[in-house]
Amino acid sequence: MKGIVLAGGAGTRLHPLTRALSKQLLPVYDKPMIYYPLSVLMLAGIREILVITTPWDRMSFERLLESGENLGIEISFAEQPQPNGLAEAFIIGRDFVGSDSVCLVLGDNIFYGAGLSLLLRQAREELDGAVLFACQVQDPERYGVVEMTPDGSVLGIEEKPQRPKSPFAVTGLYFYDNRVLDIAAGLRPSARGELEITDVNNTYLREGHAKVKLLGRGYAWLDTGTHQSLLDASQFVATLQRRQGTYVACLEEIAYRMGFIDRAGLERTVAAHGKSEYAAYLRTVLAEE
Ligand code: TTP
Repeated sequence: MKGIVLAGGAGTRLHPLTRALSKQLLPVYDKPMIYYPLSVLMLAGIREILVITTPWDRMSFERLLESGENLGIEISFAEQPQPNGLAEAFIIGRDFVGSDSVCLVLGDNIFYGAGLSLLLRQAREELDGAVLFACQVQDPERYGVVEMTPDGSVLGIEEKPQRPKSPFAVTGLYFYDNRVLDIAAGLRPSARGELEITDVNNTYLREGHAKVKLLGRGYAWLDTGTHQSLLDASQFVATLQRRQGTYVACLEEIAYRMGFIDRAGLERTVAAHGKSEYAAYLRTVLAEE
């Protein structure tokens, strides 16, 4: 399975922060935002990853992530000149995905919770069409909203409905089989001029090939599109890390624990991170055994 992090977009709600810097490079407490969605793909065991950025931010992302070698993964880069919608990821990423299945994660989405890796691995294994995740939120009208029967089966997904039929929003993490490439290629822009991921998802749903998994109370799903949600996410990460002494989305730690890199690889990273708290944390990971 291939992975795509979609990290383009205009980030207009975060102006002036995002006038000169991509939203997905802004700090969420102590790490660039893109570390968090990238960690999700790595926890799913995905090692070939395409990062899609705006043309002008591409170099910054390349400087940050390089080839992925130090994480034991392969990162490549592609550009989305205009924010034409989430489903454009599969048009831009068509050659990269090839004949494989694919997991898309939005560059501004943060997932955290016990058993997340297991949940991700299950999604990979069960994949027969599409696997989506839904989470209860206070402001479903901002998202794709799942319409369900009382017994829990999914009728459809409505994009940013004025009157949401449930509190369950579709999160920015999607698993698809290879057919997604053709489904995306056949889309027409919506009324707001975007290639909608909701149209992709409804195609799978209509054909009975989409599963929607609910992320229950044990999971946190945060997005970081507004100043308040960005601050909330930073505080969430800071609180957890300070309280537990374990890091959220420490990519090198994940790479080491997943067996993508060995001890020597982790030691090299520690040296490269100098006197930072991040390096000090990685030293505690090394000292564990
Ligand atoms: P949005 O929050 O919908 O858009 P945005 O990030 O451009 O922000 P704003 O609404 O403030 O202008 O995007 C969700 C995520 O998807 C975010 O990480 C950016 C990314 N994205 C793209 O990369 N390309 C796109 O065409 C769109 C619509 C979003």
